[in-house]
Amino acid sequence: MVGARPNFMKAAPLIREFRKRGTVDILFVHTGQHYDKNMSKVFFDDLELPKPDIYLGIGSGTHAEQTAGVMVEFERVVTSEGVDMIIVVGDVNSTLACSLVGAKQHIPVAHVEAGLRSFDKNMPEEINRMVTDILSTYCFTTSPEAETNLNREGIGEERIFFVGNIMIDSLMNYIEKAEGSSILETLQLEKKNYILVTLHRPSNVDEPEQFRSLSQVLVELSELHTVVFPVHPRTKKVIESATPSFSRSSNLKLIEPVGYLDFMKLMKYAEVLVTDSGGIQEETTVLGVPCLTVRDNTERPITVEMGTNILVGTDPGDLLKAARSVLAGERKNYSIPPLWDGKTAERIVDIIEKY
Ligand code: UD1
Ligand code: UDP
Repeated sequence: MVGARPNFMKAAPLIREFRKRGTVDILFVHTGQHYDKNMSKVFFDDLELPKPDIYLGIGSGTHAEQTAGVMVEFERVVTSEGVDMIIVVGDVNSTLACSLVGAKQHIPVAHVEAGLRSFDKNMPEEINRMVTDILSTYCFTTSPEAETNLNREGIGEERIFFVGNIMIDSLMNYIEKAEGSSILETLQLEKKNYILVTLHRPSNVDEPEQFRSLSQVLVELSELHTVVFPVHPRTKKVIESATPSFSRSSNLKLIEPVGYLDFMKLMKYAEVLVTDSGGIQEETTVLGVPCLTVRDNTERPITVEMGTNILVGTDPGDLLKAARSVLAGERKNYSIPPLWDGKTAERIVDIIEKY
């Protein structure tokens, strides 16, 4: 099952591995939570994903509308197709909805990227993670602390499988191909001489005041450095309403969200990332690019402990200070977490084949 942008690069390695082995039949469902071309279709092209067998077309809505919409349609699919297992990835509303359907239909659910916890229930994803994990028969984890988190919630060893990070399978698979992207030329960027920004968490972009103060930091940074900001559709709304003059700053490039290969290339050659994304904290660690995470907590603490990630918080002054220090050449020592090696899909399929 896939639904939103961060699901595609997690599902692609699994689908490839299942197809390569030919031992398990796959029904590939896209809920349609994300539907814009550059939030969905572009990833099918870049990641060589097959066309979904079933497209639910759920689209946007409130949490209840979206979750319930996926549940109603997905239940029909599951009932008519007679599936033996449901594999969900990540922590979006579609992940939660499909897990609930599976559990109620007594179909085993396998959750890829289980056990991540920010311990912040104000994040909608935290609720999705907790419920999905409690309902899952197979909890596939990316890092050792996930097991402790799951144990604390009563999930026993027999359900937990430390398999590594599937996003990194995609990164390793496509990083060479991404070299062929012409995005740096298109945006007239010099390698290692720009700041790459993504912001889309409700806590940063749904409150106009908070977004306005973060945007002022970006404008200030753009006085000395080029800033590239592919704008998520959620964020586009606040830019239009709260910071209309933002886009007039000359060294600040506000662009549409970009595809996977273009984004890989942008990340690899950025001097630093400023982000509140979950997945980007992990990808920058593997690429060895400094990442400033504009959040008060992270469900991916291993990227701070071992990787290039720095949790700067949501205070604009702290962000400016941290950015200046990285731009002045300050670097963390880092290493790549265990089993972030490009072989996670193989390990997961080995386990599922036994089932
Ligand atoms: C969702 C996930 C979040 C994930 C993010 C990745 C939930 C609760 N949130 O957040 O965990 O980090 O995706 O990008 O599942 N929109 C469009 N076009 C699209 C998709 C969305 O215009 O193709 C707009 C709509 O106005 C929509 C808004 O973006 O209301 C938010 O979309 P939604 O899927 O509800 O949440 P995201 O903020 O994208
Ligand atoms: N990404 C992309 N284009 C963009 C922004 C992000 O391809 O314009 C990729 C990014 O490299 C990562 C994934 O999308 O693989 C992360 O998705 P997102 O930040 O939307 O979700 P989160 O990880 O926060 O749930």
